[in-house]
Amino acid sequence: MSIFQKVLDGAAEEITLTLEHILEMHDEPEAKLIKAMRYAVLDGGKRIRPFLTLATADLFNVRRERALKVAAAIEMVHCYSLVHDDLPSMDDDELRRGKPTCHNKFGEATAILAGDALLTKAFEVLAGADTHPDAQVRSDLVMALAKAAGPEGMVGGQMLDLIAESENLNTPEITRLQSMKTGMLIAVSCETGAILGEASDSSKQALIAYAHDLGLAFQIIDDLLDAEGNENTVGKKTGKDKEAGKATFVSLLGVDRARDQAQVLVAQACERLDFFGEKAEPLKRIAQFVITRSA
Ligand code: IPE
Ligand code: IPE
Ligand code: MG
Ligand code: MG
Ligand code: MG
Repeated sequence: MSIFQKVLDGAAEEITLTLEHILEMHDEPEAKLIKAMRYAVLDGGKRIRPFLTLATADLFNVRRERALKVAAAIEMVHCYSLVHDDLPSMDDDELRRGKPTCHNKFGEATAILAGDALLTKAFEVLAGADTHPDAQVRSDLVMALAKAAGPEGMVGGQMLDLIAESENLNTPEITRLQSMKTGMLIAVSCETGAILGEASDSSKQALIAYAHDLGLAFQIIDDLLDAEGNENTVGKKTGKDKEAGKATFVSLLGVDRARDQAQVLVAQACERLDFFGEKAEPLKRIAQFVITRSA
């Protein structure tokens, strides 16, 4: 195992412990909801977004316990998006992270509620006084995540993704779709690290630009894994985009040019970090991981 893989695993463990603490089980009659929320967030996932928050926060020497709270909030929003993305009315998937999807395990209504509850819980965590003592910082965190997750961000991108099943989109339209659907949450993962670090505007902009390029590369690889990957390795059903007739970079460019494009984007992303010197090495390493991953 490479040293970087150990760093990644160590961060994933810290994130899981933080999520376990946030989503403590209790005996109330609604405990089934907490169980479904825990099912959706614990045990699995590459934890790329929370890693980005932690690695960005490290650039500014943010206290670990604060960065972990924000990282966990972002992972909860990501997991909610997966629970809803898998629903019968959306992608209708049965496998996620190598196990039955939340609605398969708990039923559709509970899965919808678990997604709702993860989304709202994330904002409760960001607004909590122990996430940051300065109310302005907390408010900036809430605003950034709300924008990235909402109609101008991830949910808007999911709407476009549904439209992409029945309409032929061109390259700029697909780029916009992917950057809303996936890029915005990846970008805000870095942005929140910078907000916590009370970074200068120029630092923040460099990090957001890095993450936008990375987000696009990330989604291209997701689409490539869907086209070429193996269900057992990827942990979710593959071949779905083609089956749904969905326009993606892969359907548009073919697999080779799509992979080249992901590499160009990651190289460009890393150049944007030169400003931070050696300290940005973990962000460069995760970018390489994103394009070489097999799951
Ligand atoms: C999958 O994201 C959904 C997309 C935005 C393409 P990830 O590949 O990060 O999923 P996990 O968290 O590792 O399961
Ligand atoms: C989903 O994209 C992105 C989200 C915002 C959840 P996909 O539908 O391609 O994600 P997978 O392939 O199911 O993980
Ligand atoms: Mg989808
Ligand atoms: Mg899906
Ligand atoms: Mg996919």
